[in-house]
Amino acid sequence: MSRLFESTSLNSMTLKNRFVRSATWEGMAAEDGSCTPQLRDLMAKLAQGDVGLIISSYAYVLPEGKVRIGQLGIYKDEHISGLREITQDAHRYGSRIAVQLVHGGVFSDAAFTGRIPLGPSHVPNLVEAPHEEMSIAYIEGVVEAFGQAARRAKEAGFDAVQIHGAHGYLHSQFLSPAFNRRTDAYGGSLENRARVVLETLKAIRASVGPDFPVLIKMNCRDFLDGGLALEESLQVGDLLERHGIDAIELSGGTMISGMLGPVRSGVKTEKQEAYFRTEAKAFKERVQVPLILVGGIRSFQTAEQLIEEGYADYISMSRPFVREPDLVKRWGSGDRRKARCISDSRCRDAAFSGEGIYCVVEQKKGA
Ligand SMILES: Cc1cc2nc3c(=O)[nH]c(=O)nc-3n(C[C@H](O)[C@H](O)[C@H](O)COP(=O)(O)O)c2cc1C
Ligand code: SF4
Repeated sequence: MSRLFESTSLNSMTLKNRFVRSATWEGMAAEDGSCTPQLRDLMAKLAQGDVGLIISSYAYVLPEGKVRIGQLGIYKDEHISGLREITQDAHRYGSRIAVQLVHGGVFSDAAFTGRIPLGPSHVPNLVEAPHEEMSIAYIEGVVEAFGQAARRAKEAGFDAVQIHGAHGYLHSQFLSPAFNRRTDAYGGSLENRARVVLETLKAIRASVGPDFPVLIKMNCRDFLDGGLALEESLQVGDLLERHGIDAIELSGGTMISGMLGPVRSGVKTEKQEAYFRTEAKAFKERVQVPLILVGGIRSFQTAEQLIEEGYADYISMSRPFVREPDLVKRWGSGDRRKARCISDSRCRDAAFSGEGIYCVVEQKKGA
């Protein structure tokens, strides 16, 4: 049997295979962030398709941290009942499910929040829209909000939570010297820039206890001038390991990193797949925490090679599951042809319509 189909554990969570659905904003939640039947159906399809660990889209932990239309919310107890329906479906089909927790920081959208976005610093060279630096009191409130969101997640039946520390959202902004120009205890040295991440981990741990898996998605590099570089990212990995993180999902880039963003186009050959593989190897050589690798993985052979050759412990994909929610089941049944996703990211554009994500290529074919 391929090691991809081995059962493994992350803290108290047992997974039936090594496949992860990376967090993917679907644009299907209600205006206040509540679950909808459409979102529930999509998550159930992923579970029916044998994904070992489903990670939800990024769920905002405070109303003012909302980034996109139809984004999932987890900022009030009223969200719990809808979220519970999703976790029950996932469990019915033998998947495990985590919720990704986020605050958009300077990329929160005033059109949804009605407030001026707050981030670590005022960085008009990077972000055109009006935004301001957050106070220490506000930072403490954000940390507390992540702890409360994790409590709701556990009550809703999630098997794990994931801190969104990647792609230029709030925690990634704090880690990044390009976004974080503070001169107080939350800026400057790497220890200071990582402070909010470690405080968030501590607040979540206090809410969910020692056995509940707490994961993070983080950047190996920002691919931005003056942004987070690999050596510092490895040091963040060390700090997270020391503070008891259960797994790291490695990604890279921000929404202002151009062609080197997290969601890259033109993944055609096996060589172009797994575009953060070199950085993943550096992580595996240095940090003992289980590593989930995302970014352009499309073929079974590549996925298997990444595990066999020690680049990663788990294989995470986003766009391939938009086109084929049953991809893992297909590979498990012996049809090992590569994912049919052509990585043109048109599904992301479709999600902005407010009608929810779908594979544009597949729909055109069927039309
Ligand atoms: C439509 C869309 C929505 C996404 N939403 C999220 C998200 O909510 N949280 C996140 O961490 N990454 C998000 N991503 C990035 C993916 O999780 C993943 O890191 C990236 O697409 C690379 O993986 P892939 O090549 O398998 O698609 C999104 C990507 C797409 C295409
Ligand atoms: S539109 Fe379809 S083929 Fe294109 S990236 Fe999205 S899922 Fe893949």
